[in-house]
Amino acid sequence: MAGTIEVLLWRGGADGRYQAYEVPLRENQTVLDVVTWVQRNADATLSYRFACRVGMCGSCAMTVNGRPRWTCRAHVSKVATRGRLTIGPLENLPVIKDLATDMTPFFEKWRSAKGAFAPSKTRIEPIERIAPDSPARLAADAAIECINCGVCYAACDTVRWNPDFLGPAALNRAWTLVNDERDAGDGPRLAAVSSDGGCHACHSHQSCQEHCPVALNPTASIAGLKRRTIEAYLRGEIKA
Ligand code: SF4
Ligand code: SF4
Ligand code: FES
Repeated sequence: MAGTIEVLLWRGGADGRYQAYEVPLRENQTVLDVVTWVQRNADATLSYRFACRVGMCGSCAMTVNGRPRWTCRAHVSKVATRGRLTIGPLENLPVIKDLATDMTPFFEKWRSAKGAFAPSKTRIEPIERIAPDSPARLAADAAIECINCGVCYAACDTVRWNPDFLGPAALNRAWTLVNDERDAGDGPRLAAVSSDGGCHACHSHQSCQEHCPVALNPTASIAGLKRRTIEAYLRGEIKA
């Protein structure tokens, strides 16, 4: 495939600007390939983040022509508009430099949503068997394959306007643990996700589900949390 593509890349911090590059077109070229070409051939100081290149690690997400995407699986032929790519850092996160954002707030919210497994058994007790077709197991399975890419977080308007909102990924994670029959952390977890900035702040407009590159549905997980927290409130297990 001959020719070049015009690529605008964000350079600098939050007050930076877009800079134009001409990048050679290649067969099956991904957006991450384009960014890598610039870093190797035009400007070695370009900062960006990636690891696996195969859609596993979740580290390569950027804003591509106005939309958050995993760049290692986004093909230029599918996402370029009018022969042009505009690539910036993810929205809703602080910019460190160029295309690299600070993911700290994203992961801090996992912690706030009690997204860590709380074991109900000691290591000397036998591991309990969870039936593959139990409703809780099926609900956890449907949400478990999150790669922590932050795409949903960048796509969520509620995150943008409410800095306390835990966001779709952290709440989706909490939902997997609420449905994990081996976990013993539901008391503090349901209290955390029902507080200000928790699941009830979500407006269910499904931008997270629409953009998730691995086809998860955080909106459905958050709807599950809304039901579960209301049930816990009615039983007097959590306070309003
Ligand atoms: S459904 Fe909720 S979490 Fe998802 S993008 Fe909308 S407000 Fe954010
Ligand atoms: S839910 Fe989807 S979009 Fe959000 S962090 Fe996980 S994999 Fe990425
Ligand atoms: S580099 Fe790992 S998901 Fe893209």
